[in-house]
Amino acid sequence: MNQNTNAMPPRFPITRDEINAVVKKFYQRVRKDPVIGPVFIDSLTLSPEIWNPHEAKIADFWANAILFERSYNGNPMMVHKGVMAIKPEMFETWLDLFAEVLHETLKPETAEAWELLARRIGRGLRMGVETRSYDPSQPPVFS
Ligand code: HEM
Repeated sequence: MNQNTNAMPPRFPITRDEINAVVKKFYQRVRKDPVIGPVFIDSLTLSPEIWNPHEAKIADFWANAILFERSYNGNPMMVHKGVMAIKPEMFETWLDLFAEVLHETLKPETAEAWELLARRIGRGLRMGVETRSYDPSQPPVFS
């Protein structure tokens, strides 16, 4: 009998090692990007004591989103709305860089499936960032 009847099947086939490899490569590249690199470096510094747990958290986020691993239970919307240095137009850069790494690292159908998911999540986060100045629970933004 299948013991896993309650488990959600993955959105698409991928291993946890592949997820970890993509996240590592992506953040190496992100830090070098002239537009979004400084946002990460200012928020997270360059210290491995801060970066390593951040990368582990992001890999957990994706393992949760793709494999339904229940390894992450944070609130990315709140986090991105709260970092004022994150601007709506930065999402395109983030997503294009992410797609670049996906297509370099994974087989085409896996890269394509993950890219679609990232762009869908990114659209929601971007919308949150765009409307944060209208959220009465957030401090007003005057820029
Ligand atoms: C404009 C593009 C983006 C920038 C500049 C950005 C920047 C950041 C920064 C600086 C943090 C750390 C915040 C902190 O801990 O103080 C963070 C956390 C995070 N980001 Fe982004 N991000 C961007 C887009 C995205 C997208 C598109 C996704 C997912 C598809 C994503 C997923 C996450 C997650 C899961 C966290 C961890 C949230 C938590 O602490 O629980 N980010 N991001």
